[in-house]
Amino acid sequence: MNDDAIAILGGTGDQGLGLALRFAAAGRPVLIGSRKLDRALEAAENVRKQVEGAQVDGLTNDDATAGAPIVILSVPFEHTAGTVKGIREQMTPGQILVSMGVPLATAVGDAASRMVGVWQGSCAELVDTLAPEGVHTVSAFQNVAAHRLQELPHPVECDVVISGAKEPRQRIMALCDLIPGLRGVDGGPLGNARIVEGITALLIGMNIRYKVSEGIGIRFTGI
Ligand SMILES: NC(=O)c1ccc[n+]([C@@H]2O[C@H](COP(=O)([O-])OP(=O)(O)OC[C@H]3O[C@@H](n4cnc5c(N)ncnc54)[C@H](OP(=O)(O)O)[C@@H]3O)[C@@H](O)[C@H]2O)c1
Repeated sequence: MNDDAIAILGGTGDQGLGLALRFAAAGRPVLIGSRKLDRALEAAENVRKQVEGAQVDGLTNDDATAGAPIVILSVPFEHTAGTVKGIREQMTPGQILVSMGVPLATAVGDAASRMVGVWQGSCAELVDTLAPEGVHTVSAFQNVAAHRLQELPHPVECDVVISGAKEPRQRIMALCDLIPGLRGVDGGPLGNARIVEGITALLIGMNIRYKVSEGIGIRFTGI
């Protein structure tokens, strides 16, 4: 396992690809995971085309999970539990599992500007109940728009609220410094993820009302 590597499961999708581009541009090795190897290889090639010298590999979700100390889950909320159950055997104590999912009501055919209830309180806490012992769940990146991440020439201009146990939380906050314009904000314990996930539904509604197709970001003042 390469200590600097960042695995992104579902890194073939909009948000995961955006993070892959940004971390690769910052010089970090990136492992793009997919259920289908050919999709992962294609996404890795896409990153290499956009980022000169990118260290990026396309792998199955299993192999990507086994290859990095930080594993970002970038699959729709409704496929989160299945994905985490599918990688349990590959995870090892000390790894950080980053939950980026939002329980949007699209999961039940309703609007993306609304949420569905999750018994555990949030997507991140659901992930935490399914993660193997010794794996740290951290919640992050829910309020950043994929479109902004993918626009490599421009800074992202968004705060990222990060929640989880202190040491892993600080490690994910440090990752934000790698992306121009992004700022990691200390969001305290994992239970606060339910508030952060709700902000995404609010932002999606605001994107519609203000007609901002690139996605509105958030900034906290006075810190
Ligand atoms: N898009 C945004 O602007 C945005 C912003 C903030 C947070 N997020 C969060 O980021 C996550 C990814 O969002 P996205 O827009 O990138 O999603 P997406 O493009 O719809 O899907 C991401 C990836 O999930 C995998 N996937 C699809 N169906 C699956 C299934 N049945 N089981 C397992 N994996 C499946 C696919 O990868 P493979 O087919 O390659 O396996 C797909 O490329 C979500 O949790 C979302 O809430 C997104």
